[in-house]
Amino acid sequence: MNVLRPLVLVAALASLLGAQVPQSEYLTRRTALTRSLPGDGVLLVLGAPEPKENYQNFWQSQNFRYLTGFLEPSSALVIVRHRGVDRGMLFVEPRDPAQEVWTGERLGVEGVNARTGLQGREASTLHGVLDSLLAGGGTLFAVGDFSAGGGSDVPGAARPRTADDQFIDRLKARHRNLKVADVNAGVMRLRASKSAGELALIRSAATVSAAAHREVLHTIAPGMAEFEVQALAEYTFRRNGADGPSYGSIVGSGPNSTTLHYNKNDRFMRDGEVLNMDMAAYYAGYSADITRTVPVNGVFSPAQRDIYTIVLAAQAAAERQVKPGVAFRVLDDSAVTVLRRGLATLGLIEAPNATYDCGTPERAERCPQYRLYYMHGLGHPIGLDVHDVDVYSTGAMAEGSVFTIEPGLYVRANTVDVIPDTPANAALKAKIAPAVRRYANIGVRIEDDYVVTATGYDRITAGAPREMDEIEREMARKSGPPARDSAQVDAYRKSKP
Ligand code: GLY
Ligand code: MN
Ligand code: MN
Repeated sequence: MNVLRPLVLVAALASLLGAQVPQSEYLTRRTALTRSLPGDGVLLVLGAPEPKENYQNFWQSQNFRYLTGFLEPSSALVIVRHRGVDRGMLFVEPRDPAQEVWTGERLGVEGVNARTGLQGREASTLHGVLDSLLAGGGTLFAVGDFSAGGGSDVPGAARPRTADDQFIDRLKARHRNLKVADVNAGVMRLRASKSAGELALIRSAATVSAAAHREVLHTIAPGMAEFEVQALAEYTFRRNGADGPSYGSIVGSGPNSTTLHYNKNDRFMRDGEVLNMDMAAYYAGYSADITRTVPVNGVFSPAQRDIYTIVLAAQAAAERQVKPGVAFRVLDDSAVTVLRRGLATLGLIEAPNATYDCGTPERAERCPQYRLYYMHGLGHPIGLDVHDVDVYSTGAMAEGSVFTIEPGLYVRANTVDVIPDTPANAALKAKIAPAVRRYANIGVRIEDDYVVTATGYDRITAGAPREMDEIEREMARKSGPPARDSAQVDAYRKSKP
């Protein structure tokens, strides 16, 4: 298949839409949010602060970006809702030529209205404006990086109080009776349904990411370093107009292919191993998420084919379920059924539904054996965040839902050691040990991105080779320097003010 054709098509769509979300859509989002509030009041949306050092990368907070599209640090949006009528103000840093020599040009207060339709205000006046708006009491609806609502990836870890928490603390100290309602969840509810413009940008992210996955196949060979593959992929993202990688690229060969979030990417690959590559781009702020697993020497071994075949069949089983009205759990059940059966056939577990003793001396517990090789979820929504939100999180998928399906199997060389040493487990360990030795260090994940259509789905990452024969054919084609897709770059350039 011609690599450039889908790239050109998506680029054409992106350039038609300007490769950015139109200002009218930001207004629609803001209005939807204020309409969802229980009544009149003041809405405050805090953007991310300037990094400690201005040479550090700046990441705008996603909810602020979603509501304003404004990407300068230390900004805030205030909307006063009175008798159902909204008055919006955007607080920004002023133009300052002496400072701009470090940070580059700012929009400045005077540029805000033409760009956003909001009234421009200087950031230093935010406290004073809020003080006068809140003087008569009322509720402050707040969107920001708050520790209470944010949670943490680390179970049991308390998040320290953030700069946004401290901002609200200072307001509360000045307004004793102030009621503050965290409305981050309201923004996330809006983000769960993607607009046509957002879907076009996600498709661009997917297309660029898929092109990078195809391109690296032309260079992978024994002796090459994982970081070379990472560099080539990330170079390809940026070269095609993407903002950069949408998460830390995972490029794991041999034993590293079985480590789920391996991202040191510093090992040299060897003949006979697999390479597991979870790499994708941000495009105009939107994420794709793709994983491909390939043989380092260009030809799948019989053992690698065994594992790959099961994972691919699991993904296909989940895919077949995708259409509006279906719960994600249905996809999960379909994929897991295939994984369980496949593992049993290979002798890696005793039977599809077999369990093992995973408890402690104090507390008996049984775990499914397939979980020794498949430890993560089947997929997640994508959007502004690589782990985003979708309507299916609270029900069923709908037309326009966009998410990954990413089954995997990871045979770690020490899998048997994960099984507790109990008399009941001894027979299981002995039984699966030969199969674990045969498949040791093969970690396969296959991850694609899907948009739900009226009747089924569109696999928007189809440009990345997925069938084993296609991967082998593509790897046999060694090429020179990668071509640049000027259409994507042009679409990206047009998105700049
Ligand atoms: N790349 C992160 C994930 O697959 O969820
Ligand atoms: Mn993923
Ligand atoms: Mn991924």
